[in-house]
Amino acid sequence: MEMNQKKDMIRLDNLSKHYGTKKAVDGISLTVKEGEMLALLGVNGAGKSTTIKMLSCLTKPSGGTAKVDGHDISKEQTLVKELVGVSTQDTAIARNLTVEENLNFMAGIYLDPKQYDKKKRRERVEEVLQDFKLDEVRKMKSSKLSGGWQRRLSIAMAMIGNPKVILLDEPTLGLDVLARRELWREIEKIKKNRTIILTTHYMEEAQELADKIAIMISGKIVMTGTLEELEEKTGQKGLENIFVSVAEGDRA
Ligand SMILES: Nc1ncnc2c1ncn2[C@@H]1O[C@H](COP(=O)(O)OP(=O)(O)OP(=O)(O)O)[C@@H](O)[C@H]1O
Ligand SMILES: [Mg+2]
Repeated sequence: MEMNQKKDMIRLDNLSKHYGTKKAVDGISLTVKEGEMLALLGVNGAGKSTTIKMLSCLTKPSGGTAKVDGHDISKEQTLVKELVGVSTQDTAIARNLTVEENLNFMAGIYLDPKQYDKKKRRERVEEVLQDFKLDEVRKMKSSKLSGGWQRRLSIAMAMIGNPKVILLDEPTLGLDVLARRELWREIEKIKKNRTIILTTHYMEEAQELADKIAIMISGKIVMTGTLEELEEKTGQKGLENIFVSVAEGDRA
């Protein structure tokens, strides 16, 4: 019962982004329900990052619409920015600042000064430092952090405003097996009551974390569903086999 009552937290209708004649995103439609995690899969250049950038108001759509909690990403940017936390591939980490300074900086931008005075802002930064176990590196310059810690910081920064929606563009790119697993646990923790879209090239990551999977090819979404549904549709077992059959089928 309860499952069916969940509202659409993210809704894309025929959303597209063109760069000149290049259709980076070519009219995609999709919904993600409140509390759900969607993994967006696709080969290099499929349009995943462009989709994430539109949903976080970092780039404007060329056509179609998208709504976050009912708010139009083109017409209600201020509201949407409050609802959405994003960790992109070219992360917003300021390399010359320490971990703590980066978080303070984000707190200054994302926490409404009417609700958060200086003391409350500091408390929120402290909370996030603890949640992401960044306490031990808080005084370290971000440029000196290893890739894994930088990813962790980037996600922590996205979490500062306690957003309802989190967009994670390849959060575990280039991490070692242990660091990846550790970050999975963090992502599972932030999943509580939040709606997440995550892009990844790691099939086991999507399989482990996501409730629903969407496969993107050349700017279009060619298949969506739960793992079981995709297995049913393709007659393949496991996400890697599903992905290969769909992506290669398109290439042939
Ligand atoms: N600012 C831009 N100007 C021109 N073309 C762009 C721009 N950004 C992206 N593109 C093109 O749009 C297409 C989709 O790119 P996008 O970065 O969304 O792919 P992706 O699925 O995230 O790929 P990857 O897995 O490599 O990260 C690519 O062909 C890319 O070259
Ligand atoms: Mg990308």
